[in-house]
Amino acid sequence: MLEVVFTKGKIGAEAVRIVGCAEKTKPGLASLSKDEREAVLKALRQAKFEGKSGQFVEVLGGRSKIIVAGVGKNPDALALQKLGGSLAKRLFRDSVGCYMVEELKGCRLDAKRIACEIAFGLMLGSYRFDKYFTKKKAEEYPALEQMIFKLPDAVDAAEDFKNYAALANAVRYGRDLCNEPANYLTPQVFADDIERLKYLGLEIEILEKNELREKGFGLLLGVAQGSVNEPRVAVLQWKGKSEQEDFDIALVGKGVTFDSGGISLKPGAGMGDMKGDMTGAAVVAASLKALALQAAPVNAVGIVGLVENMPSGSAIRPGDILTSLSGQTVEVLNTDAEGRLVLGDCLTYVQEQYKVRKIIDIATLTGATMRALGSEYAGLFGNDDKLAAELIKAGEESGENLWRLPVNKAYDKMIDSPVADMKNLGGANAGGSTAACFLQRFVKDGVKWAHLDIAGVDRLEKGTELCPKGATAFGIRLLNAYLRH
Ligand code: BES
Ligand code: ZN
Ligand code: ZN
Repeated sequence: MLEVVFTKGKIGAEAVRIVGCAEKTKPGLASLSKDEREAVLKALRQAKFEGKSGQFVEVLGGRSKIIVAGVGKNPDALALQKLGGSLAKRLFRDSVGCYMVEELKGCRLDAKRIACEIAFGLMLGSYRFDKYFTKKKAEEYPALEQMIFKLPDAVDAAEDFKNYAALANAVRYGRDLCNEPANYLTPQVFADDIERLKYLGLEIEILEKNELREKGFGLLLGVAQGSVNEPRVAVLQWKGKSEQEDFDIALVGKGVTFDSGGISLKPGAGMGDMKGDMTGAAVVAASLKALALQAAPVNAVGIVGLVENMPSGSAIRPGDILTSLSGQTVEVLNTDAEGRLVLGDCLTYVQEQYKVRKIIDIATLTGATMRALGSEYAGLFGNDDKLAAELIKAGEESGENLWRLPVNKAYDKMIDSPVADMKNLGGANAGGSTAACFLQRFVKDGVKWAHLDIAGVDRLEKGTELCPKGATAFGIRLLNAYLRH
């Protein structure tokens, strides 16, 4: 994999040198020779270079190739990440790149931060999921092996970068899980994969089908009963503050490895995307991985419900009534509203087993939220204004944006059932809010709770600088920003 190196020394002639340039500033070219400087200035004039984000000028000749990269006006951390991501594409055929950190003017961040953000973007932007191609040609693989960051004297970025690299690794891990097809990533394979995270010092417990039955995970088992692939529940603990017994946070993830809709079968078009209905679980597992890699001073417990939702002779039917782990009963009116069932039991279990006063759940839960917010924002629901505001802020910081939507008594009333404590369907409208109200019925009094509905942001139809087409694993960066501040 791509190696990131920080240096203050001389740069070899094999490296492509990159100079960032903010809009309305002049590029810093002090590190270039006089001839190179003249060639660059001429090329910039010819290209009418303004420093706009995404504008690049490549200058050949001289000692080696030089790239001047526009970063837009007053570039912030996200703009620098974006630059890093686009460099991954620009340098596809080059083996070594060198970003001249000292030359960027018009950016309020210090040199250390600039280097880290660009390198972080590079690690995200260079992500590919290509393991299933058997006939890939050598030239389709990136040649870029090393990216050097040339820092001013007295600046050392390597220590800071460890946390960025840990997070980038976690995001890549999360995307890998989400991009896997459902025939490979069954609940059992997913659980086995999570179990391997033990090597990082995470405590991991896997509950198998008979244990789930003994304990009474009635909702989760109801969803799973149509599939030949057995369900699993995985619990991951990171104790970054060993002297403290309580958990600062519980993360709960929806891990439906494939959502066919069950007997309430989904239409065929786009059904393949439902291999990504386990994104919430991948985000939870990857978030705990990130905390462990960062040795973060946080106590966090994660729980994921891993099931496959399939139609068959043994599947649950519309009209069935299930008894949840909490004891509350649920009339299942649509077997495609399965995520809330899986999460309901996981919410109960984590509150019964662990001392938690704050919960964030994350799930590709409703098409309604996707239609409301598109791919710009994930939906945020919850019972605590402070937690919601902090999450929105973490979203802005990380570029994973949240928009708050309501939960209230009126929406809650819409899930009352005439034959059971509740039904798993609301009315025709406000599907995101009624789903959230369903989850809230499994949150104990006094517990602060936020629910992130990531249907709509879990995958990209078209790639961006920081993520190719396919799984985004949306939420890992946001949760990491929230948990570490
Ligand atoms: N996994 C889907 C939600 C979804 C839709 C995720 C689109 C990603 C993209 C969920 O299980 C579902 O099918 N929800 C139904 C609920 C309805 C039957 C109440 C929906 O939103 O249509
Ligand atoms: Zn569904
Ligand atoms: Zn689903």
